[in-house]
Formats: sequence, C-alpha cells, structure tokens
Amino acid sequence: MLPLLLVSFSDQVLAVREAAECAARAMMSQLTGHGVKLVLPSLLKGLEDKAWRTKQSSVQLLGAMAYCAPQQLSQCLPKIVPKLTEVLTDTHPKVQAAGQTALQQVGSVIKNPEINALVPILLSALTDPNDHTKHSLDILLQTTFINSIDAPSLALLVPIVHRGLRERGVDTKKKAAQIVGNMSSLVTEPMDMIPYIGLLLPEVKKVLVDPIPEVRGVAARALGSLIVGMGEQIFPDLVPWLLETLKSDNSNVERSGAAQGLSEVLAALGKDYFDQILPDIIRNCSHQKASVRDGHLTLFRYLPRSMGAIFQNHLQAVLPAILDGLADENESVRDAALSAGHIFVEYYATTSLPLLLPAIEDGIFSDNWRIRQSSVELLGDLLFKVAGTSGKAILEGGSDDEGASTEAQGRAIVEVLGRVKRNEVLAAVYMVRSDVSLTVRQAAVHVWKTIVANTPRTLKEIMPVLMDTLISSLASSSSERRQVAGRALGELVRKLGERVLPSIIPILSQGLKDPNASRRQGVCIGLSEVMGSAGKHQLLSFMGELIPTIRTALCDRFAFWLYNCVIL
Ligand SMILES: *[C@@H]1O[C@H](CO)[C@@H](O)[C@H](O)[C@H]1NC(C)=O
Ligand SMILES: *[C@@H]1O[C@H](CO)[C@@H](O)[C@H](O)[C@H]1NC(C)=O
Ligand SMILES: *[C@@H]1O[C@H](CO)[C@@H](O)[C@H](O)[C@H]1NC(C)=O
Ligand SMILES: *[C@@H]1O[C@H](CO)[C@@H](O)[C@H](O)[C@H]1NC(C)=O
Repeated sequence: MLPLLLVSFSDQVLAVREAAECAARAMMSQLTGHGVKLVLPSLLKGLEDKAWRTKQSSVQLLGAMAYCAPQQLSQCLPKIVPKLTEVLTDTHPKVQAAGQTALQQVGSVIKNPEINALVPILLSALTDPNDHTKHSLDILLQTTFINSIDAPSLALLVPIVHRGLRERGVDTKKKAAQIVGNMSSLVTEPMDMIPYIGLLLPEVKKVLVDPIPEVRGVAARALGSLIVGMGEQIFPDLVPWLLETLKSDNSNVERSGAAQGLSEVLAALGKDYFDQILPDIIRNCSHQKASVRDGHLTLFRYLPRSMGAIFQNHLQAVLPAILDGLADENESVRDAALSAGHIFVEYYATTSLPLLLPAIEDGIFSDNWRIRQSSVELLGDLLFKVAGTSGKAILEGGSDDEGASTEAQGRAIVEVLGRVKRNEVLAAVYMVRSDVSLTVRQAAVHVWKTIVANTPRTLKEIMPVLMDTLISSLASSSSERRQVAGRALGELVRKLGERVLPSIIPILSQGLKDPNASRRQGVCIGLSEVMGSAGKHQLLSFMGELIPTIRTALCDRFAFWLYNCVIL
C-alpha cells in the first residue's frame, strides 16, 4: 500500500493527490507502535533516493505521520523532524516546499497553545537557522508557559535549541542552555525528552566548558534541571564525566566548568549522595597533582550556592582542606582555595561564625606567611560582613559621616563576636600589622583601618589580650612568629611610649623566670625590642626594674639578645 501511496502523491491530477493525502492521514492515525517501526525506515530511506519525486512523496508521507496517535508520535517525531529540516535545503524546490509543508503539519498538531502560536517563528528558525535561531530563542524565553510542552512541540524546539547551543554568540548559547534546563520541567511527559538527550547533552557539556564563567553557570544549572526533571538514571555517565573533567590537565576553564556543573548536579542528587562522595572530594584536595587539587578546591567555591544548608553541615570537615590549599606551593591552587574561603565567608559568616572564626584565627598565627595573608583577608571579609549587616540597623536615622559609621560598625562587631572574642581578633590583626612579610602587613593594615575607628583608644581596650598574644607568640617554636611578635611589640612601644611600659616591663620580667627555655628566649626578644624602641629617658624611669631583669637574663644562655641591645 505504501508504494502505491508514494506514487499517487505525485500524480498529475490534483484530486488524486488529495485522495492520496487523505488516505495517508487515515493510515497514519491507525498505526500502532509496531506499524511505525515498519513504515518509518522505508520512508526515511526514500529521502536518500536520487529521484526528486520519490523524495518529495516520502517527505509528504513523513508529514502525514504528524497525524499518528500521540504515543506513536513521541516515538517517531524525534527521527522525522531532523530529516525534514535537512530536506529544507534540498536542491529541488519542490522537495524543499514539501519539507516546509510537512513541518507545518507537525506544527499543526501541537496542543500547547503557547508553542502553537509560535509555529511560524519556529519554522522560520528551522528553515533559516543562521538568521532566525537567536530571535526564536529570545521569543521562547519571553514566553510564559502555562501549559506543559507536548511531543510535537519538543520536536520543533529541539533542533532550534541544538543549533543555538552550537552558535558562537555568547548570548545565543546562554539562552539555548537555559531553555534546555527549562524544557525538562515543562514537558508533559519527562520521558518525551529522552530521545533528544543524546543530541543535546554533548552540546550542553561543551557550553559547560565555555571560557565565560557566566555561560558555564547557565549550562551547569541546565544540567541540574535535567537531573531534577528526568531523574539521574537517564544520565549514568554524567557524574563520572564531571569528576574526570574536574581533574583535567587541560585548562583552568575546563576544571571550573566541571566544578560548576558538578555543584548543580550534586545539589540535584541530594544529601545522601553528597554525604557519600564528600570524603573523596576532600581527599582529592591534597592529591599529588596540582590540577586535581585545583579542580576539587574550585568545587567548594560553588557548593555553598547550590547546596546551601546541606553543605553548611560539612563546613567543619571542609575547612582544613581550604586552609591547606591557602598554603599550596602552586599559585592557582592557592587562588582556588582563597576564592572558596571568600565564598564560605559570604554565605556562612552569620550562621556559622563559631566555626569559621577559629579556623581563620588559627590561620593568622600560621607559620606560613601565605596562610597568614589569606587568613587576614578572610577575617577582613568576615568582620566587614558582620559589621555590614548589623551595622545598618544601628545607623538608621543616625549620622552618615564616615567616622560615625565606623564607630557603629565597631559596635556591631562587638555585639556579634562578644567583647572578648573581638579583642582577641583585633590583637591578632594588630600583631600581623608588623609581619615580616610585606603583603601580610598590607592586608592587616587594610583590615585594621576598615574596622577600627580610633587606634589609640582601641589599643588601650585590647592591651591585656594583646600582651598575652605577643608573649605567647614570642615563645612560639616558630622563629618567624617570634620575629613578628617582637616587631609588633617594638611598634607598640614606639607608638604609645611610656604609657605601655609600666604594663609591659613587669610581664617581661616575670617571663624571664619561665622554666621553659623557648619562652625565656621569646621574652628576651621582646625585651630587646622594647629597649630598642623606647626612648632613653623613657627607659631611665624603669631602670630600677630593668636592671635586675637584665641581670637575670645575662645569666641565661639567651642573653646575647639583650647584650646586643644594651650595647646599642
Ligand atoms: C527557566 O530557567 C530560568 C533560569 O535558569 C529559571 O529562573 C526559571 O525558573 C525556569 N523556568 C522554568 C519554568 O523552569
Ligand atoms: C579522588 O576522587 C576519586 C573520585 O573522583 C576517587 O575515586 C579517589 O579515590 C579520590 N582520591 C583520593 C586520593 O581520595
Ligand atoms: C599549578 O597548577 C596548575 C593547575 O592547577 C598547573 O597548570 C600549573 O602548571 C602549576 N604550576 C606549577 C608551577 O606547578
Ligand atoms: C615551651 O613553650 C612553647 C611556647 O609556649 C611550647 O610550644 C613548648 O612546647 C614549651 N616547651 C616545653 C618543654 O614545655
């Protein structure tokens, strides 16, 4: 019957052609799934025929398949429509015209009214993708979908979106990826999307590793939506591919895209899966290959946004990996860790302060100047965040001049951290203002300036804690830390002079009697700094106390520290 119809479709008499078409529709509407399987291959084969008449009638019969029952329709359209779009560029105008008509027939059975209204635009994009793809994607994104998308709608949409994903224009790629994400939540029957996944997924993966972060972000969210909409079992290779790309040696961009994609996909897969995979991710942050560390640390930059509270519960487990990353020998790994740290502070400063703050404080006392620098930066972020949020409430209706606002921010910090903690933190920052490393000093001065309105008054407030901090740092086993504390002490004496000496000297005298040798050595360094920084007449008034102290020290094998000073 099929060959007969094929011939009649190109009969010279119009009435015969119309009758043939009528018969074809009737036949198609009766086709079972099995029938479609029998008919479709021979029709598709007809498109390969050299004779244009055979091609034309095959196209017409394919168009008539638009009248199949819905179940058959979702089975055959994914195969038919791409072929019909190819026909649109056929060398023979009659074949082209038949292709147009056939696509219109597909358009005519679309039940979704929003898409139905767009059929002419969609057909123009299918006919002339160079000129109309972008426009039709625009229109689709502007359309508010109240009704879900059926199989014929998808059949026309997918080739356009597929084309959009491969465009060079950033905007077009982004829009196409966004529509892919939306489609899976808009389809009547998520399974209608399955035949198209093999076509769309490779292109979305390419967009995921686009050089522009924002474009990658859209593709990442599309992947997440696909998993939510269709279920993970449709994408068995996606997570392994993302994990592999996360380790890629090729480029930062690929790893970053994989991190963005993985963050969305993990969010879609939910808590249990995440709990299970997290230990591997953390371990890979100290992998021997820099690219692997880099990729996995980059992932932590995106997880807070995508996973929210689920990720927050694991903050304590993740923080050590971040701190290690801050000291990595490789700059791009350090940058990845610091970016993640900034994001943690941004998301969790207020909710997880008791977790974040101690980790950052520890970092300020690290032996590694890189960790000190990053930690000071993160502390600045954190304090600013704390001051910024609650600072506003205090400021309402008040003066808006800068000094006042800093005072208010200072109060906000005290309110959130408590006075004791705030003093501890400021003492740490004050100490590293004298760091041996210039970049740490600069970072610390910057933080101090942003949060402290009045330095002399603040120093007075934090003096007891500051001295504690300095003394224990002077006794530290790390020579760099001792040096930093010594310099800070010298600076303190230069700044405040006589006012601090009465409290410093007795503490140091006491320290020289410490049974712990390294503490004694620390105190000696401190003493020498004090003597080097204080003016002669300032020291004179403390000679009574200093002389016995120094005498004690001279009996000590660390006395050379002092000896230097006294000579000077
Ligand atoms: C479509 O995608 C955008 C961006 O990804 C999203 O904000 C919007 O909620 C989605 N709409 C639907 C219906 O899924
Ligand atoms: C790194 O992660 C992979 C999974 O991506 C895991 O199989 C492997 O054991 C991890 N490596 C380490 C050192 O934990
Ligand atoms: C640092 O790591 C990146 C990958 O993150 C790598 O491409 C680069 O070659 C590494 N640099 C050094 C100096 O090892
Ligand atoms: C001496 O003090 C330093 C710093 O407080 C400490 O790290 C070290 O363990 C102490 N040594 C002894 C033997 O107690």
